[in-house]
Order: sequence, then C-alpha cells, then structure tokens
Amino acid sequence: MGKELNETAQVARGLGPDPFQGSLASARRPEDPLEPVRYAPSEPLNLRQNDVHVWSFCLDVPVASLTRFHGILSPDELERAQRFHFEKHRKRYIAGRGWLRTLLGGYLGIPPEGITFAYGEYGKPELLGKCGNQEIHFNLTHSDSIACAAVTRAGAVGLDIEHVRPLTDMGELVNRFFSPRESSLFEMLNRNEQPGAFFNLWTRKEAWLKATGEGISQYLKQVEVSFLPGETPQLLELPERFQRACEWSLHALNPGPGLKGALAIAVRGTSIAHWHWSEFRAAS
Ligand SMILES: CC(C)(COP(=O)(O)OP(=O)(O)OC[C@H]1O[C@@H](n2cnc3c(N)ncnc32)[C@H](O)[C@@H]1OP(=O)(O)O)[C@@H](O)C(=O)NCCC(=O)NCCS
Repeated sequence: MGKELNETAQVARGLGPDPFQGSLASARRPEDPLEPVRYAPSEPLNLRQNDVHVWSFCLDVPVASLTRFHGILSPDELERAQRFHFEKHRKRYIAGRGWLRTLLGGYLGIPPEGITFAYGEYGKPELLGKCGNQEIHFNLTHSDSIACAAVTRAGAVGLDIEHVRPLTDMGELVNRFFSPRESSLFEMLNRNEQPGAFFNLWTRKEAWLKATGEGISQYLKQVEVSFLPGETPQLLELPERFQRACEWSLHALNPGPGLKGALAIAVRGTSIAHWHWSEFRAAS
C-alpha cells in the first residue's frame, strides 16, 4: 500500500502545477483478469502521442470539494447546473465538470478555470483552440455517482460506462437499437446472461458514437459490435460514411463492480492506462 501511495503521489506531481492539490489518494487494481488496461501507475503522467489515460472518480464529493469545483466552472456551466431539477444531479454535474477541468488543466499546465470548451453539433465538448499548441482529445461519461474521463493526443475518443441492471423495457430497446443480427444473437442467450450482454453492446456502441461526436442518433442500429459474454470488443460494421475515415479501435474498461465500460478511439495501437481515485468515496 505504501508503495502504491508513493507511486500515485509521483503521478500527481507529473500532472503539472499541483492540479489535485495533493489529493490523489490511491490507485487500486480491479479484480477482473480480462481487463486489458494497466492500473497502479508507476511513472509520471506524461501523455505521449499514443497514450490514452482514463481516470475514474466518484461524483458524490465532500462540500469543500464541491465549493472548489463550483468556483472553477464557467458561467454557462453554472447556468446549466442551475437547470437540474434535483440537487443530487446538480452536484454531480458540478463535480464532473470540476474534475474534468482539473484533469485537463493538469495535462495542459493551465489553471482549470482557464479552460474554454467548444461544443460540436450534437453537444460534444472539445477544447477550444490548441491550448498552448497541444491538441488534446477527451471525453467524459457518468453513471450515477461514478464518472470516467479519457484524455489522449492520439485521436478522437469516446467512452461510456453503465451500471448493469435489469431493464423492464429491454426487449423494446433491443428492437429499436440492435441490428437484426445482434437481436437474434441476443435472443439465444440465457436470461441471466442478457443484462450483461445488453450493456456490453450499449456501452460499446455509445462509446463509438461519442467518439464521432454524433451521440445517440440514427446510427445506433447501423453500428454493429461484438457483445456476447467473453467476446473481445470489436467494431464489426460501421455506417458507410465512417467506414474509410480512420482506423477505429474499441476497448473494454472496468470502471468498478457492477459496471460495464467501453472506450472507442479513432486510431489503432494505443496504450491505455486506467486509474481510479478513491479520494471522494465518502460524501460529507
Ligand atoms: C451524448 C449522449 C450520448 C450522452 O448520453 P449519456 O448516457 O447521458 O451520457 P454519458 O454519461 O455517457 O456522457 C455524457 C457526457 O458526454 C459528453 N457529451 C455530450 N454530448 C456529447 C456528444 N454528442 N458526443 C460525445 N460526448 C458528448 C459530455 O461531457 C457529457 O457530460 P456533461 O454534460 O456532464 O459534461 C447523449 O446525450 C446524446 O446522444 N446526445 C446527443 C443529443 C442530440 O443529438 N441532441 C440534438 C442536438 S440538436
């Protein structure tokens, strides 16, 4: 444990001007042996061209952290925060954007409040301009109190995490969003395998759609992915206009117990590392 703490402290220093105010607590290793990503960072956080860094964190943060995050959000983010009906969702949105700004500011060596986001046609946040000549791609996803952010220089990136849960309208969603081939494979699964397979498919498609910036759209049924239990994530079919654009790759993430996750990126041959923060597990 002591070694792990030293390693993560080193990581915090590698991020630049103390972006986490010395708060990076510990990285933990997931139990899933199929997990393809590295855990427990052992080198300073220096984002090389082919690196993809994924960070998981809890959105239910202590009041002091929420206040700090509130102070670094832009007026449009604060205005959006005000529009959430439930306080819990407002706080999680503030924490997510606060974490994201802190993380990006750390990589770019600028204060988190200095970051300006631009938004794509379907709402994908991107960094406005090159921020000191550095082109950095990122994406954020959340499911309840857990969020993950990916940061890379390699190319457009998207990620999605979901809690695996029974859905009363699963059959309807399968009809609407699965291709005919996917639907027939899904129907052949045992009932107890279906929720996991459903969320394999959902997170893999959504990760890719988020990488393109399209979001959930008419393309959901035109993208085909592997999703059966134990299958390696793969994009099997893409809508025609995306087929030659670049070499996409799809990866599994393990954001924590009971969660499925996937990451899509517009290049092959990346090196993916994934860290979990535990600083904010307990909200005050
Ligand atoms: C993007 C989308 C897939 C997110 O679905 P979700 O399951 O709620 O979200 P996730 O938790 O995985 O991701 C949300 C995050 O993705 C990012 N995001 C938002 N829109 C995005 C897009 N089009 N592509 C990629 N990422 C997007 C944001 O950072 C967002 O979090 P934040 O709002 O707290 O910053 C969904 O909202 C969508 O399809 N949006 C497109 C909507 C659309 O087509 N609107 C019509 C515009 S005219």
